[in-house]
Amino acid sequence: MLRVILCENAARWASEAADIIAGVIREKSRPVLILPTGGTPMPVYDALAQSHADGVLSFAHTTTFNLDEYVGLEPTHQQSYRAFMERNLFQRVDIPAGNTHVPLGVAADMAAQCQQYEQALEQAGGADLAVLGIGGNGHIGFNEPGTSFASRTHVVSLDERTRRDNARFFSSLDQVPTQAVTMGLSTIQSARRILLLAQGAAKAPILRAALQGPVTESVPASILQCHGDVVAVLDLAAASQLEDLSVEWRAGLRQMA
Ligand code: F6R
Repeated sequence: MLRVILCENAARWASEAADIIAGVIREKSRPVLILPTGGTPMPVYDALAQSHADGVLSFAHTTTFNLDEYVGLEPTHQQSYRAFMERNLFQRVDIPAGNTHVPLGVAADMAAQCQQYEQALEQAGGADLAVLGIGGNGHIGFNEPGTSFASRTHVVSLDERTRRDNARFFSSLDQVPTQAVTMGLSTIQSARRILLLAQGAAKAPILRAALQGPVTESVPASILQCHGDVVAVLDLAAASQLEDLSVEWRAGLRQMA
């Protein structure tokens, strides 16, 4: 089932999202989270770090797995997703360093690393919650349009649109890596619960396609319609093209493409 939580302002949006994540952390004895990078989660990480600073949230028993990493960037590179996570969340809370997992963009054997990443997630007991942003082309993680719904962690070539969208974090477009390593769509779907985050009118058309359009590999996020427990926390602009928000879309109503 897909539930949409509509938020009237940015502060409310961040606190709704952070409350859902904090709820899973408090409820489980050994919570396992899948986490995104990018612009979308930053205010949510701020809210989680604030709860930790206020003494009401501990990450001491939490294990995290990031969705993706750029191929070719050292973990210490400012724009690597490892560095992003250290800056925006890990260094601000009490998560043990050994509990954080981000794929390595410079692994000698990428295929072996992808397998080990899957195994580590499985050994941790699978994810209680996958937190996702969505790309303008419908990607989740770095699963670009056309990626198999059956995919597990793998190396991908980034779409030109994705590289352009992410160029704002780099000094120029040619600095943006051309490849990434990402959890697959099937890896993401295996999380017990999914929290999809989006803000802003630029995401409205793709949210409409992903959440209410046909389930098709050309819109990777449309696979979420087949998950049993998805909550989308959206602001009014992001949700502006969704129809009939009182309707609950149930898993399995649509045939997989
Ligand atoms: C990042 C990730 C991507 C982003 C998506 C949206 O780890 O997996 O799918 O969530 O590209 O990016 P922003 O939030 O920058 O719009």
